[in-house]
Amino acid sequence: MYRTHNCGELRAENAGQETTLSGWVQRTREFGGMTFVDLRDRYGITQLVFNNELHAGLGDEAKSLGREYVIRINGKVVERSSKNANLSTGDIEVIVEKMEVLNASDTPPFTIEAETDGGEDLRMKYRYLDLRRSPVQQNIILRHKIAQEVRAYLNNRNFLEIETPYLIKSTPEGARDFVVPSRMNAGQFYALPQSPQTFKQLLMVAGYDRYYQIVRCFRDEDLRADRQPEFTQIDCELAFVTQEDVLNEFEGMMKHILKYVHNVEIKEAFPRMTWDDAMRLYGSDKPDIRFGMQFVELNDVAQNKGFKVFDAAELVVGICAEGAASYTRKQLDALTDFVKRPQVGAKGLVYVKCNEDGTFKSSVDKFFDQEGLKAWADKMNAKPGDLLLIISGEADKARNQLNVLRLHLGDQLGLRKKDDFKFLWVVDFPLLEWAEEDERWVARHHPFTSPKAEDFDKMDTDPGAIRANAYDMVLNGTELGGGSIRIHDRGLQQKVFELLGMDEEESNEKFGFLMGAFEYGAPPHGGLAFGFDRMCSLLGGADAIRDFIAFPKNNSGRDVMIDSPSPIDAEQYEELHIRKAEKSQA
Ligand code: AMO
Repeated sequence: MYRTHNCGELRAENAGQETTLSGWVQRTREFGGMTFVDLRDRYGITQLVFNNELHAGLGDEAKSLGREYVIRINGKVVERSSKNANLSTGDIEVIVEKMEVLNASDTPPFTIEAETDGGEDLRMKYRYLDLRRSPVQQNIILRHKIAQEVRAYLNNRNFLEIETPYLIKSTPEGARDFVVPSRMNAGQFYALPQSPQTFKQLLMVAGYDRYYQIVRCFRDEDLRADRQPEFTQIDCELAFVTQEDVLNEFEGMMKHILKYVHNVEIKEAFPRMTWDDAMRLYGSDKPDIRFGMQFVELNDVAQNKGFKVFDAAELVVGICAEGAASYTRKQLDALTDFVKRPQVGAKGLVYVKCNEDGTFKSSVDKFFDQEGLKAWADKMNAKPGDLLLIISGEADKARNQLNVLRLHLGDQLGLRKKDDFKFLWVVDFPLLEWAEEDERWVARHHPFTSPKAEDFDKMDTDPGAIRANAYDMVLNGTELGGGSIRIHDRGLQQKVFELLGMDEEESNEKFGFLMGAFEYGAPPHGGLAFGFDRMCSLLGGADAIRDFIAFPKNNSGRDVMIDSPSPIDAEQYEELHIRKAEKSQA
């Protein structure tokens, strides 16, 4: 037998018992002729005592143990004289009677402890060692728990978990496809799914009216902290539902998860905001509503006073940072530099300090007198002690820049607490978006999203103004999930494809299977998908989703542990009917 207990299990009540433990040597220390070993497994750490006087030779054996050796011991549990309150097993230790080395270990390239000395690259190369560290294990365990609660909630509500294929035809979710050459069909390629979108809709046509799947999706896009080339979705679809039904169903799911995973009970309904309002008040389609600082438009009080920058601007817009009038000149300069960085792109930043004595000090005192500044402060509901920050320019750009500044200030002022979970539904997204480069309309969500019935008449006249039955769930400024009510009528689907610049032939070639299915009794349906990795990282209080994925890719899309992607043999090229492009010949 390898173990009677795990390394996180023994307590004072076990004192006097014989135990067998197996695990990894975290560290060894010598003290007063005895050797102490911390033995670790995923449940915790137990202190072992090797005493030459009690068991001859054992202390010497213990001295030869290196870090990460795998050992099995038999021994007796005793209560410790000096207890360690930081350890779940800190009340006891085990006096070892017998020890066996199950496997030796090379010295690991970094310390396997909560705080490690290993850099990101090294930890990724030896991910199996990184995964032994307790914070990483906690993340992986949290992921498991959330997945179980998702299943518990959905199973209980009559959803069926159904798998869909990975070797498919392109699904347009706005990224590039990963493609797989077919050996058996020369010159033809599968695409890996960017999502199971079309399949889940076909399941609705097939009568499986409540579907879900915790499923891998593949998107060849530029990577960021919250994006991986392969990531996991909680993908859901329902038939015979309105948007209201979908929102309620999944609001319930998030409340369930929070309750069972974090013991946080959210009683109120998640607030809802139209896309228009989100853009106007926060300059973002995923506002972080853990804090205020809503945008206030100042054109009427800031223009025509002789300040050319404002006069020439389409929009003058500001935020009021509560209590930040104490910002020093240096801090204000730093904020200006921050918004002027090329990534943000603002030309400048105007500030107004609302002094405690009711006066104002601004960076544009030359153009605006006290009365003028008071008009701004009044419009922004500012109090003495507050700081107004104002950006001007082209409306979309100014909003975008102010959004970045608002989030930055939220961080600086400690207003974005990780354990404060603020959900928001953003609804009524525009159906289309103008793609400047290609000079055509593209679907903002995906081409299967239904336009709002009341906007049908804009299809021919003003496509940009059509709103969609589309919604996103936002948590703390991150898009956690998104979905829509779908088109289930062939004619309407064809029309939307046309708006997207696809003629009948092309849409039939790409999506004939779906439109064909719509001819056989397609029920009204809709759904959404959550980013599961994002959900885990947000609920785990972290920014990077990679910390919650057992074997993630790095920012260049590489798995540095298995060294992938990697070249293939000449025979494989041959078999797959493909040829290496001249350019890529190494
Ligand atoms: P969407 O493209 O909005 O919708 O994706 C749903 C959610 O998946 C997460 N996500 C990602 N997570 C990690 N890495 C990525 N590269 C990545 N891309 C997206 C986000 C996002 O909100 N088929 C539709 C859903 C539907 O309409 O039902 C879809 O895939 O959290």
